[in-house]
Amino acid sequence: MIVLGLETSCDETGIAIYDTRHGLIAHRLYSQIAVHAEYGGVVPELASRDHVRKTLPLIHEALAEAGITVSDLDGIAYTSGPGLVGALLVGACFGRSLAWALGKPAIGVHHMEGHLLAPMLEDNPPPFPFVALLVSGGHTQLVQVDGIGRYTLLGESLDDAAGEAFDKAAKMMGLPYPGGPALSKLAATGDDKRFAFPRPMTDRPGLDFSFSGLKTFTRTKILALAVDGVLAGTDKADIAAGFQAAVVDTLSLKCKRAMQQTGIKRLIIAGGVGANVRLREQLRVTAEAMGGAVYYPRPEFCTDNGAMIAYAGAQRLAAGQCSDLAVAVVPRWPL
Ligand code: KG4
Ligand code: ZN
Repeated sequence: MIVLGLETSCDETGIAIYDTRHGLIAHRLYSQIAVHAEYGGVVPELASRDHVRKTLPLIHEALAEAGITVSDLDGIAYTSGPGLVGALLVGACFGRSLAWALGKPAIGVHHMEGHLLAPMLEDNPPPFPFVALLVSGGHTQLVQVDGIGRYTLLGESLDDAAGEAFDKAAKMMGLPYPGGPALSKLAATGDDKRFAFPRPMTDRPGLDFSFSGLKTFTRTKILALAVDGVLAGTDKADIAAGFQAAVVDTLSLKCKRAMQQTGIKRLIIAGGVGANVRLREQLRVTAEAMGGAVYYPRPEFCTDNGAMIAYAGAQRLAAGQCSDLAVAVVPRWPL
């Protein structure tokens, strides 16, 4: 089965083609970062307009890359939520309409299901069951995955998502949007022990997270150290390093606890924050120390992409599921 996947839930237009026999055969990504950078965050209306501009040209490029024509497609998958409603509607309308014109099935895919199945696109995919750490700009969740569509939420953030905390801390420090990658780059040059950042909610049982306190701690440090509103380079790097270490330690501890609680030794990391080098390394060490293994998508498939939607959609279409002709998107949608 050859499935076209469309991801337009936020600020990336991701288009990919997944073949259930040969794997991923095309992958195109257009990032709107430059469009939103001057506003310091995603502007929903601009995101929708840019998806409208880019979707068809990228589908055209992806078909050329795969060496197939549109009539070779057996189905179409699009992200139907959660995300920005206008942005989601672009991929859903293009995807559903194209499938109808071709007389092929279409399916709306949960964006976070896409993220948590992204490690399946790699050479050594994890067998079920596994524990998934989903860390993106909108979600921080630990999920037990027993199979496609068999997901049990083990814990989640009670306030900010990990990526959101990275982005907000970076903004306070005057770093460019998107803040996560910029903060982590700066952190590599800082001393992570200079400031005693808290490890929120690690001293009580359970698998939930809270990251808003780290934001407050960061703001307090910036106010104490800034001179005329400006932070010295080393202070900035040390705050970035301390912040990153606190997030990574907290995530690692909860992953370890989730593996102990479920008895499952396979851990996967997905979502944009999964591109963080320090997090990847620390989770690898944590899992291996427990006799387990950690699986990650390649960094470009940690952040939003069409490949994960094409893969997840292909699994569901192959199982006979499909969406009807009424185009429906769900901006807020639990996994
Ligand atoms: O999964 P994603 O691309 O979009 C959502 O579904 O939210 O995740 C984006 C988030 C942003 O908050 C971004 O700052 C964060 O992932 N991010 C990182 C890194 N790369 C992306 N955070 C920390 N370190 C990184 N290297
Ligand atoms: Zn995402």
